[in-house]
Amino acid sequence: MKRKNQMRSALAAVVAFAATSSAMALEIKLPQETAMYKPSSLPGYALALQNCMTCHSAQYVSTQPASSPRKYWEATVKKMKTPFGAPLKDEDIPVIVDYLVKTYGAERGEAGPSAARK
Ligand code: HEC
Repeated sequence: MKRKNQMRSALAAVVAFAATSSAMALEIKLPQETAMYKPSSLPGYALALQNCMTCHSAQYVSTQPASSPRKYWEATVKKMKTPFGAPLKDEDIPVIVDYLVKTYGAERGEAGPSAARK
């Protein structure tokens, strides 16, 4: 709970900063290996790039337990929409969840780039 509040105020600070400093050139470099979503031929990959990079990098996703089942990813993505406020279309949610569970979760190995790691 405490972490959540800290995160929200951190986000608010970033938004406030971005709003007041648009004239300044701002370059942010994120560490490559965990910051980006893993490429995949699954349709949810493109949707994750479009919808899941606005508030945080892919690091949160890549640090979830690899045993996380589909239900867990579904609950997580829905939570990003409500209460966190991600502008997700309801019909995109199962597509993103499918990509996440097959790339980072319990269904790895059935599709996606992580199949090679097994
Ligand atoms: C509107 C901003 C926003 C967007 C867009 C967003 N998230 Fe998040 N996300 C958050 C916040 C805030 C947290 C931190 C919650 C905490 O600290 O407990 C978070 C945390 C997470 C976590 C860590 C686990 C958890 O339950 O806290 C995962 C995984 C995650 N997001 C995945 C995603 C995915 C996948 C998408 C795209 C569908 C996404 N997020 C889009 C705001 C967002």
